[in-house]
Amino acid sequence: MIYSPLAVKICGVDFKNPVITASGTFAFGFEFSKLFDIDKLGGISVKGVTREKREGNPGPRIAETYGGVLNSVGLQNPGVEVFINNFLPFLQSKKAAVIVNIAGNTESDYCYLAERLSGTGVSMIELNISCPNVKEGGLAFGVKPDTIQSITREVKKRSKKPLIVKLSPNVADIAENARAAEYGGADAVSLINTVRGMAVDADTRRPLLKNITGGLSGPAIKPIALAMVWQVYNAVKIPIIGMGGIMTANDAVEFILCGATAVQVGTGNLINPLTASNIIDGLRKYVEKNKLGNLQEIRGKLLID
Ligand SMILES: Cc1cc2nc3c(=O)[nH]c(=O)nc-3n(C[C@H](O)[C@H](O)[C@H](O)COP(=O)(O)O)c2cc1C
Repeated sequence: MIYSPLAVKICGVDFKNPVITASGTFAFGFEFSKLFDIDKLGGISVKGVTREKREGNPGPRIAETYGGVLNSVGLQNPGVEVFINNFLPFLQSKKAAVIVNIAGNTESDYCYLAERLSGTGVSMIELNISCPNVKEGGLAFGVKPDTIQSITREVKKRSKKPLIVKLSPNVADIAENARAAEYGGADAVSLINTVRGMAVDADTRRPLLKNITGGLSGPAIKPIALAMVWQVYNAVKIPIIGMGGIMTANDAVEFILCGATAVQVGTGNLINPLTASNIIDGLRKYVEKNKLGNLQEIRGKLLID
C-alpha cells in the first residue's frame, strides 16, 4: 500500500484513511457513488444484513430532533443472498474496505451469516448486537456481558473474517461489555449504536414514530459517544472504531484522541452526502498543520492534567 499519513491497518486490513461510513446511513454505497468518488473512503459499513429479506418497521420511522435524528427503521434489507449477488460485486470494485454489518433473531442466524460471508470478498464483519429497533435479537444479545461473550465466541468460530462487535450505549457498563467482546475473541469493537429516545407532538399528543421509541443519532449524542470511547479505550486492548455525531474532521480527531483507531460517519451522510469526503480532506489538513507523520500518533493522546 502507498504510504499516506492517514493510512491505518485494523486487524490486518489496510484502510487508506480512518473514515468509514456507518451502517444504515449509506445503504450499499450505490446512490452515494453518484454524488462523490467513494473510492476515497477508508471503508464502508453496509446496512445491517439479515438471513432473509426484511421490510423493517412501519412508518413514520424517522423524526428530526434538536441536533439529532430519531429512527426506528428496524433493519430493512434485501437479505444476505441478494446482498452477495447484487451489491457485493459493486462494493468490491471500489477501493474502500467492505464491512458487512450482520443482524439476526437468534444466535444461529448470526452464525449462519458469518459462515456465509466467510468465503466471500468482504473485508470484515460487524456484529450488530445493538439495534434498539427490533423486537427479537439485536439488542437482546448486546446488553449482558455473558451473552455478548458467548455470541462473539460462536460467531468467531464460524468465520475467517476479522470480527468487529458493535456495542450499544443503552447498557449499564459499556466498558464491561467491551471486555466481554474481547474475551469472546472480537478483533475490534465499534461504538456507539444509537441511544434509545422518543419524540412527541404536543398538538396531536402522539409519538412522532409509529414504533413510539427509536434510536437517537447525530451531534446530540457526540458527548455520550466520546465518553464511552474513552471508557472502552481504558478497558480493552483491541482496536476501537468510534462513532456518534461525527460531522467534521475535528469531531473525528476528538474520537481519535479518546482512543479510536478509526471512525464511522452516520447521520452526517444524511445531512450532507459529502460529509465523509470532507472529513477526509479535513484530516489531511490536520496532519499537515500539526506536522504529524501519521494521524495514529495522537491516538489516545488526550492531554489530562
Ligand atoms: C437511519 C439509520 C439506520 C441505521 N441502521 C443501522 C444498522 O442497520 N445497523 C447498525 O449497526 N447501525 C445502524 N445505525 C446506527 C449507525 O450506524 C450509528 O451507529 C449511529 O447512527 C451513531 O452514529 P451517527 O451519530 O454518526 O449517526 C443506523 C442509524 C441510522 C440513523
